[in-house]
Amino acid sequence: MEKKKTPIQPASGKLGVLIPGLGAVGTTFIAGVESVIQKQYLAYGSLTQMGTIRLGKRTDNRIPKIRDFVPLASLENLEFGAWDVFEDNGYEAAKNAGVLKEEDLNRVRDRLESIRPMKAVFDQRYVKRLNGVWIKKGKSKMDLAHQLMDDIQSFSSDYHVDRLVMIWCASTEIFIEQEDVHQDLERFEKGLKNNDPSISNSMIYAYAALKSGVPFANGAPNLTVDIPALVQLSKEQGLPIAGKDFKTGQTLMKTILAPGLKARLLGLHGWFSTNILGNRDGEVLDDPESFKTKEESKLSVLEYILQPQLYPELYDHFYHKVRINYYPPRRDNKEGWDNLDIFGWMGYPMQIKVDFLCRDSILAAPIVLDLVLFLDLATRAGMAGIQEWLSFYFKSPMTAPELYPEHDLFIQLMKLKNTLRHLQGEDPITHLGLEYYD
Ligand SMILES: NC(=O)c1ccc[n+]([C@@H]2O[C@H](COP(=O)([O-])OP(=O)(O)OC[C@H]3O[C@@H](n4cnc5c(N)ncnc54)[C@H](O)[C@@H]3O)[C@@H](O)[C@H]2O)c1
Repeated sequence: MEKKKTPIQPASGKLGVLIPGLGAVGTTFIAGVESVIQKQYLAYGSLTQMGTIRLGKRTDNRIPKIRDFVPLASLENLEFGAWDVFEDNGYEAAKNAGVLKEEDLNRVRDRLESIRPMKAVFDQRYVKRLNGVWIKKGKSKMDLAHQLMDDIQSFSSDYHVDRLVMIWCASTEIFIEQEDVHQDLERFEKGLKNNDPSISNSMIYAYAALKSGVPFANGAPNLTVDIPALVQLSKEQGLPIAGKDFKTGQTLMKTILAPGLKARLLGLHGWFSTNILGNRDGEVLDDPESFKTKEESKLSVLEYILQPQLYPELYDHFYHKVRINYYPPRRDNKEGWDNLDIFGWMGYPMQIKVDFLCRDSILAAPIVLDLVLFLDLATRAGMAGIQEWLSFYFKSPMTAPELYPEHDLFIQLMKLKNTLRHLQGEDPITHLGLEYYD
């Protein structure tokens, strides 16, 4: 019997990409897209641009590129808009971020210069280390949300875009726990009108996006859209949402290594992770309240992958420590050290050392691109609410409340590809493979 394809609206016309936070990640993403359009580089690190997907049996030889298998917006059809608390245009912001070489920036200078950030919704209570100057004034958080909705409307008509997505690339906010005001839409909207302190800047953007019919992804560890009120709104509006915290650097390495240790039943006494980084993100994370949001996001990963409740002999009581040190000379070129104390046969101890000289924004930019394109695909396919199949891109994947998040990078990838197969009416791949030996 023929499997049913999910009807997907075509990716025709322009896709507007709205970015709160025109910093290191935002500008590196835009500069990279333009460089790929100019054929200076291939889109290294991007699944939507370089990844393939196997369909059917291994002997069928059907392995198209993902972008030829599902209808995605083309890079030429992206239009960028941004908000920031500084007035710098995209080129100045990229220069300040110091991620890209001058020659690379110069080639895309016009495109970057054309991006002038709109005034931000910003209250310093939520990002202590940032002194914003380019910010909106409003009587209430609801008023500010309406100003953002007006921005979205104007952007849409000025640039003649057919569809929009919003992706949070702004600074990490202080740690906020779920409160009463986050529990349903009615209370949340009341909170917006009453300036409830538990509603942060990023939540106002997410609300404005969803109200305007725009899907939303969150690249930072803040709660943002990961609250029942906004999950409810996304479902009511028929819009996909995804988060939280782009999976780059050290956590990416953790979710590659930890599944391997567990697969071979090697035990863990401790895992110590420390970083030095000197970009603005590092400066913001130097504030203990912003760091706490990041720490929560980074710490949970190992617990979920190693499942100490199922393997107490191997993973009960392992010591896990994560440090982030702001060290300006390194700018965006982070160095992350990991020390793993593991044990094997007869309890003999061993150590693994990882020294990852990574570039944060270089790892994050292709994630932004893939999320933008997949969120747009999900919208056109009528997929509303939390998109767990996009967990592959996040340190703290959002899930239904009764589920624990899946952190294993390889399971996440399988889930993502099976979702694409499902959308196009292809069989999911289980890797059972018995049919080859019948
Ligand atoms: N680079 C990575 O690998 C990586 C990985 C995971 C998560 N992240 C997260 O992505 C975000 C961006 O990282 P980055 O390195 O680009 O940081 P950045 O400091 O270079 O850029 C953030 C930008 O957001 C702006 N901003 C802050 N609050 C804002 C608001 N309310 N509205 C509009 N703009 C606002 C800042 O002025 C700044 O320009 C951070 O939250 C970071 O934790 C980054």
